[in-house]
Amino acid sequence: MLPAHADFFAGGAGEERTLRANLAAYDRLRIVPRVLRATGDRDLRTTLFGAELATPVLVAPTAFHLLAHAGGEAATAQGAVAAGTLMVVSMAATQPVERIAEAGGPLWFQLYPQPDPVFTAAVVKRAEAAGCRALVVTVDSPVFGRRDRDLRNGFTTLPAGLACENMRDETGRVRSIEMNATLGWDRIAWLRGVTGLPIVLKGVLHPADARLAVEHGVDGLIVSNHGGRQLDGAIASVDALPAVAAAVRRRIPVLVDGGIRRGTDVLVALALGAEAVLVGRPVLDALARGGADAVREELERLTAELDHAMALAGAKRPAELTPDLVAVAG
Ligand code: FNR
Repeated sequence: MLPAHADFFAGGAGEERTLRANLAAYDRLRIVPRVLRATGDRDLRTTLFGAELATPVLVAPTAFHLLAHAGGEAATAQGAVAAGTLMVVSMAATQPVERIAEAGGPLWFQLYPQPDPVFTAAVVKRAEAAGCRALVVTVDSPVFGRRDRDLRNGFTTLPAGLACENMRDETGRVRSIEMNATLGWDRIAWLRGVTGLPIVLKGVLHPADARLAVEHGVDGLIVSNHGGRQLDGAIASVDALPAVAAAVRRRIPVLVDGGIRRGTDVLVALALGAEAVLVGRPVLDALARGGADAVREELERLTAELDHAMALAGAKRPAELTPDLVAVAG
């Protein structure tokens, strides 16, 4: 992979403080296991918006998979399906959502609402027609993050021949993805009128926003700082999770992403109130290494580690993981 492309995948905004904080937060959190719980075999099955998954580990939406592997997003989707989970297709995918959907499993579609509502609605309809079962609206990006590595490398456009295939309009032209600093809660209400799909907001960190989301009829939340790629200095996502979970009070599912690298991290996130987690860079690294098979292996590794950690912590099901199982290291 070209160094500039590797930097695009690995890097974060600014000093990369939030990127590091996402990982450091899991280093600080310790598991307080229960004993003699007679769990027997664990049961990791997780249902989200009607999709029955083998594991609570999902694939986060990430851009430009064709830069990582010739199989592109379709290979990632195949890996996710083989591992019994689902992928969130990025609006910045380099293959058409219809082709990615050929993998056959459940898919969700990630949307950056565009300033042009007609085009935005057309993209949503296209994702729906391709079989996507939820709309993940990314709300942490009113403007692009300033990613120092990309600025230094001058990485601004895709190489010739690659494009954001889901940004083609009715004339066949590929539009650029625009960030939109005029987005407000009214656009979420507007989206509700455009689609019957569950609407999941991605990039919520403040509990007041979590409450507003519930009041606005949002169907789910992803606690996320975009893997440290947007607001540098933002709180680590797992540090934001308990207050968001407390604000939501189980009325809608709360998911989390950012810095999850081991099954024990998944356990901690579930214990602190997430129903499922998503992983970004671990999947991209696997895709680059070995396509669909490596993506499947990576997701299976995380799942097997979670299963093992649950046995040792005394939980049979994700729902048995509660906040008392986590302590902050002194
Ligand atoms: C992302 N992420 C992201 N999010 C989104 O909503 N739309 C997108 O197109 C992208 N693109 C993207 C590209 C790359 C290279 C990365 C690393 C991340 C953010 C992603 O969904 C997720 O929030 C983080 O990746 C989670 O953190 P980890 O697992 O990478 O630490």
